[in-house]
Amino acid sequence: MSIAETAAVEPQATEHLRMELARRLERARDRTLALTDYDDGELVRQHSSLMSPLVWDLAHVGSQEELWLVRDVGGRPPLRCEIDEMYDAFQHPRSTRPALPLLSPAESRRYIAEVRDKALDILDRTPLEGKPLLERGFAFGMIVQHEQQHAETMLATHQIRDGERILTETPLPDTRTRRSLPDEVLVPSGPFTMGTSVEPWALDNERPAHTVALPAYFIDTTPVTSGAYEQFIAGGGYDDPSWWHPDGWQHRNEVGLRTPKYWHRADGQWMRKRFGAVEPVPADEPVQHVCWYEADAYARWAGRRLPTEAEWEKAARFDPASGRSRRFPWGDAEPSAEDANLGGTALRAAPAGSYPDGESPLGVRQLIGDVWEWVASDFQPYPGFTVFPYEEYSQVFFGSDYKVLRGGSWATDPAAARATFRNWDYPIRRQVFAGFRTARDAHPAETA
Ligand code: AVJ
Ligand code: FE
Repeated sequence: MSIAETAAVEPQATEHLRMELARRLERARDRTLALTDYDDGELVRQHSSLMSPLVWDLAHVGSQEELWLVRDVGGRPPLRCEIDEMYDAFQHPRSTRPALPLLSPAESRRYIAEVRDKALDILDRTPLEGKPLLERGFAFGMIVQHEQQHAETMLATHQIRDGERILTETPLPDTRTRRSLPDEVLVPSGPFTMGTSVEPWALDNERPAHTVALPAYFIDTTPVTSGAYEQFIAGGGYDDPSWWHPDGWQHRNEVGLRTPKYWHRADGQWMRKRFGAVEPVPADEPVQHVCWYEADAYARWAGRRLPTEAEWEKAARFDPASGRSRRFPWGDAEPSAEDANLGGTALRAAPAGSYPDGESPLGVRQLIGDVWEWVASDFQPYPGFTVFPYEEYSQVFFGSDYKVLRGGSWATDPAAARATFRNWDYPIRRQVFAGFRTARDAHPAETA
């Protein structure tokens, strides 16, 4: 295309991008407001020391939007700079947030609406190019992802709270394959491209693209189910230190780990509490609310191991026909309802073996959506990592304290779910909508 043609097409493309960003900002806000559409007592209460009161998340998403879109991108004066510190996650650990003089729910809603008004005005006037922060709308995409990540955090708060169910669930389509699937899939040895340098709204920790060579391995076709996990429990998996990482065994003893979080036994049956409703644990659903140590112990008990982060990503992205890495297991197109269980309204994972349309070229299923998957790896920067745009997003978390989670859960919005996306948490955490799948080395005779 000639430069003249580019110039003619450009304004239209930019307009399209602006509309897309506005739409995504609106969708994130609808979700924030729906998750906080409860009386003030519910919003200001701290349901768990692991979580903020919902009203903190509510104003915090606006505070981040003000910092990045209104002040930084827009160059406008602060709306209320006296609250910056209160909504800075690094100034106040979650457990101390209820003691802060937080904005009331009504004030918070007013504040975030005011910020949004200005942000949309700035979106209309700002060229979406020229600076890295603006290139293809990055700053706006980052704020969309930030608000959507907090929506998932707020769902975890809803799940942890005591009391009757106050959320409503929308049924999932039944996409389950009836014929039996192979338990595991062979990923051939060889290099693949991990991470990305081209995904417009990829966060700094996903960058840059780099080549990783892996020996052949097998990986589970689907996440490990609750039924399989019940076998681990019944087989004494929680009682035998030989399956456990030493730190995990110590933690198991300290807090008395015996089952996934939210499970209990009644009348010889495993039950779970899901958003305030008690129900039998569905055996065919991916197990959820286990910590990394439990996932690791299960994998050893099963004679297997957790996949490394690179193994997870190769299984999700590598297309042996072209040698390329895809954006998503199914290709490069944005997720549809037939590809993956995302978006946060199902309130549950789909049965293992669902979403045939979402499978990877190698035949691995449910990599995106359903449950976050713990992988073996620590959260470390990729070779060539540079902080962008702020150190507190990823850089300060790199190291051996955090384990990586991949793929997003049913509670993740599509804006924050892609095959390069990296999440992380402490290996003892169980409030996340997280499960896992297992892997093993391939023996030479198996790869022929
Ligand atoms: C990437 C999910 C670990 O919630 O702590 C939200 C995302 N960063 N606000 C978190 C995030 C700043 C982050 N996780
Ligand atoms: Fe945040």
